[in-house]
Amino acid sequence: MNRKLAALIMLSLALLLASATACARTPGEGNPLRIPPLLEDLDPSPEAAEYVLQAAPGITEFFTGVPADTLGYNGSYLGPVLRLRQGEQVEIRVENGLDFPTTVHWHGLVVDGDQDGGPHQVIRQGDSWTPRFQVDQPAATLWYHPHMAGNTAWQVYYGLAGLIYIEDGVSDNLELPREYGVDDIPLVVQDRNFNREGNLLYSTSMMGVPAGQVLLVNGTASPHLEVVRERLRLRILNASNSQNFRFRMSDKSPLVQVASDGGFLEAPLSRSSLFLSPGERAEVVLDFSKARGRTLSLDSGNRKVLEFRVARELESSPAVPDRLATLGPVTPPEPGEDIPRRMFELRSMGVSGTINGRFFDMDRLDEEVRLGEKEIWTVRNLGGMMQAGGHPFHVHGTQFRVLSRSGKLPPPEELGYKDTVHVDVGEEVEILIRFTHEGVYMFHCHILEHEDAGMMGQFRVE
Ligand code: C2O
Ligand code: CU
Ligand code: CU
Repeated sequence: MNRKLAALIMLSLALLLASATACARTPGEGNPLRIPPLLEDLDPSPEAAEYVLQAAPGITEFFTGVPADTLGYNGSYLGPVLRLRQGEQVEIRVENGLDFPTTVHWHGLVVDGDQDGGPHQVIRQGDSWTPRFQVDQPAATLWYHPHMAGNTAWQVYYGLAGLIYIEDGVSDNLELPREYGVDDIPLVVQDRNFNREGNLLYSTSMMGVPAGQVLLVNGTASPHLEVVRERLRLRILNASNSQNFRFRMSDKSPLVQVASDGGFLEAPLSRSSLFLSPGERAEVVLDFSKARGRTLSLDSGNRKVLEFRVARELESSPAVPDRLATLGPVTPPEPGEDIPRRMFELRSMGVSGTINGRFFDMDRLDEEVRLGEKEIWTVRNLGGMMQAGGHPFHVHGTQFRVLSRSGKLPPPEELGYKDTVHVDVGEEVEILIRFTHEGVYMFHCHILEHEDAGMMGQFRVE
């Protein structure tokens, strides 16, 4: 009882500190960063992989001595990393051990519509669903999460999400940090609120979703990581429901970006900050060779995301290669080339929004797309009433290239493959898109509350 009381007082203090000013924590406190397990492949053949994922309720201590009710895959909060290889034949049995229906969507994975895990692939409680597909895309950091029509946001908030890595010949041969959990680190970043009892508190209002007072990384509050090698590769996912992050190093050292949503950039990009809206990913390499024995952090705004405790002696790491992958230029259509164009107009209304003036309808197909054909989609953010803001526009079943942002060439970090693109109020983004698999897919705003409230549409590829 005393222990519980003390823990609650600690929790209130932690919340107070987190909400007052961040970075107030003194080194020495906090929790070691949790590293999600790599999911075991049950198929011994190198050409095939078989996985089992079970969604179930659990109990997680985000703060020592304070249990919280959570949801997770094969664990109490979040899920394991699925490491797939290009060309591999994959089978994943997804079991629903929750007491409500769910789906599991493979965000960024290019698979047939009926294997995609969108709102049409509902798994009832006690049932399972076994998608099968061949991995048909280059090395990348992707993720998975529920996608129930109208019921996605809270399922993710309570813990249902995980990462997918794809490896290929290119990632095998690049001299980048690649030892999982040692110098190749997943960072699933989420903002969360807690109530006085220490349980997760999910709430929305007409004005939107309040920003979380606590930042969790891989489900760890106040996380720190021991740095033992000169270079560290971070695979960062913004898995928040609605918050944007702008990551920066506390000592202003650069983040060297090597990958965006869909895989490697052509060449590394040295950046002073990195913006990620919900659903977006980036891989960065950090150089700690001049920070031996020091404590630094990855921050967003004035908040500490992850503290790095750098060892005095660091094992050496190779320099980041000058060339990473060959993507080819993003070629705008030739004058006179007859390329289908589609327009997507986003408008917000409080905690919801519309695409082309419509709310999501499971029984309505919004677009028909021809298999294998290049198209240009224009995504325009028309703003709106109350809380008009940027929308992360996401398309299932493909990886696209950004052609232009408000009439200009996109910034270099947007020249790689993307599946989610942030479109700010008043902006217009053109993407070059092509579908190589058939079926029904979703396009939507990745602010999960907007998605749930109907800011989503569906298209069929044939
Ligand atoms: Cu990350 Cu439609 O999803
Ligand atoms: Cu998706
Ligand atoms: Cu939105």
